[in-house]
Amino acid sequence: MSHVLRTARSVYVVGASEYGPVLQHWGDPERWPRIPSTRRASFETAADVAPLEFAAGGTRHTQTAELLVQGPANGVDGALLQLRSMDGDEHALHVSLVDERTGVEVDLHWRTAPDHDVVERWAVVRSTRHEVALPRAFGAGWNMPVGPGARVSELVGTWSREFSPVEVDLPAGQLRLGSRQGITSHEYAPVVALRSRNGETEAYGVALVWSGSWRMQVDAVPFREVVRVSAGVDDETTVIALAPGEEFETPHLLGTWSPSGTAGLARAWHAYQRQVLLRPVGPPPVVYNSWYATGFDVRVDHQLALADVAADLGAEVFVVDDGWFVGRTSDRAGLGDWHVDPEKFPDGLEPLVTGVLERGMRFGLWIEPESVNPDSDLYRAHPDWVYRAGDRPLTTMRNQYVLDLGRPEVKAWAAATLRRLLTRYPITYLKWDMNRAVTDGGRPGDPHSREWSVAHTRAYHRLLDLLRDEFPHVTVEACAGGGGRVDNAVLARCDVVWPSDETGPRDRLAIQHGFLSVYPPSVMSSWVTDEPDRLDTAPTSLEFRFVVAMAGVLGIGADVLAWDAKTRDRARELVARYRELRPVLLGGEVTRHGAPGDPWCAVQYALADRIVALVWARPDAGGVRLRLAGLQPGATYRLHDGRTVTGATLAVSGLDVPFALAPDCDVVVVDRVPADG
Ligand code: DGJ
Repeated sequence: MSHVLRTARSVYVVGASEYGPVLQHWGDPERWPRIPSTRRASFETAADVAPLEFAAGGTRHTQTAELLVQGPANGVDGALLQLRSMDGDEHALHVSLVDERTGVEVDLHWRTAPDHDVVERWAVVRSTRHEVALPRAFGAGWNMPVGPGARVSELVGTWSREFSPVEVDLPAGQLRLGSRQGITSHEYAPVVALRSRNGETEAYGVALVWSGSWRMQVDAVPFREVVRVSAGVDDETTVIALAPGEEFETPHLLGTWSPSGTAGLARAWHAYQRQVLLRPVGPPPVVYNSWYATGFDVRVDHQLALADVAADLGAEVFVVDDGWFVGRTSDRAGLGDWHVDPEKFPDGLEPLVTGVLERGMRFGLWIEPESVNPDSDLYRAHPDWVYRAGDRPLTTMRNQYVLDLGRPEVKAWAAATLRRLLTRYPITYLKWDMNRAVTDGGRPGDPHSREWSVAHTRAYHRLLDLLRDEFPHVTVEACAGGGGRVDNAVLARCDVVWPSDETGPRDRLAIQHGFLSVYPPSVMSSWVTDEPDRLDTAPTSLEFRFVVAMAGVLGIGADVLAWDAKTRDRARELVARYRELRPVLLGGEVTRHGAPGDPWCAVQYALADRIVALVWARPDAGGVRLRLAGLQPGATYRLHDGRTVTGATLAVSGLDVPFALAPDCDVVVVDRVPADG
């Protein structure tokens, strides 16, 4: 028996086995089946060698299991899952598994969107008879015929160096990525790509839709063609407790297949994120954010002076970052007391808000609802609201603790705080920050204390949902000290993300290059800031910095009051140019050319008849010939200098980049001439 799920260009075929669903094929409909039936050797059970779509410890003994169950009353750990039912249609599949002896039930779900190449999967685990603990409750196992010796691509980093691409060969063994920090983390993005090393261009991608502690494991059993990836909530720090009758729904996972390598995966992810995850609102506005210009020194007159220039340059929203609330003169105090500081704003926030609106911009505000400084009225009133691991001393990071958002009273306080601010002031842009990891999660005395990250993440998601439902006019920017919490669950609930605190243009180019391999430009917030950067000190032209920021959602974070008239004139032109090209830059199909470490690199955006290429070059690059992707050989294209050429010619000759904008960067527009034009 086979159940065929269809995506836009692939099929995902699931068969039945005694132990549950097995993958029969994933990919090209014409090359079915690709999943080999594996021979059993000594020491292996039939379940061990089957490409199971979900396995429990106790069912499978030599390979990774997605589910570990402890403590049914009969004293036997694990679950011997057996297939109970399997039904669905070509875009959905539901499978029910049960361990009759212990009453543990698992419902598995698959879903596809007809216009996309993404398969969504998750599991629901239920204990019907006994109290059980789940030390691991992943949502799915994905089988891919890329072994032995798969090549695995990851995005790794640290603060200010997020989204660095890394490739590893995995001839045998397990590769585990994840976070124990209660947030997605700067270290690993919850997404991998796998290819075989046999020259196939096929690639598979798996992403976890989750913003808390997580784990993803690539399991390459020696000499096996099928490599498995499974993922879910972190299995090192999280244990799910199920009382009889309780169930746990795992985070969802996404899988995609492409016949054209990791570039094809990027296109598949972007299309899905843009059309399925992100809400259909217009492009995010050009931001002016005053953080780098003023730090915590937020004063009305100074902010309004910045707003004057920002509006003149073409910014569409003015965002007041950290520093506007009571007691916030440094990072040592104030977090938690979300009231306008009467010393900085003697007449309230209104003069600043009104001034910004009068200058034709929207008004935006920064907030960090999950954190609290010990030096705050909130902490003094509710010292029990922060995470505590038993009687361990509390640890501060950036002088702050993390609020236990999983407690109903804390979540209610956060919801009330958001509602109060957003109804009191005409705020239409909210930057939600989170500036530390959770180092000592826990809730003394609570049987669910080892689920703190699950409860926290769900509460975070519900609060973002509240913003969407009750304040749909508010653009929400997600941030966690830069890119500490960027994932598909955030993309499903926010409009933009702040990928990194590093804004030095060459570093930023590298961060963005990695970011765009998985996430789309329409969410990639990027600001032009002043030189020298703290980390990336090599000088570039103003144009270079602008073109880097134009690769996503352009913003300005510089001290624009210090810019002279010539700089402002140039900046105004560049913002106008960005706004003109924005539909293509944010909505176009992305192709990356070269890499930021190369003498030159580029990102191409193609939408309808227009291609925009952003090009950056080192002084020693020499001439740049850019071979645009996706040209139609028989079509005619009008180049930046007015010449027309056929797609076939342009594909062979390449585009000679004129560097008309600046010696180190350019913006090149190529238009396809309508057939009758
Ligand atoms: C970290 C963010 O990434 C910055 O952009 C800024 O908002 C600071 N926090 C403010 O504390």
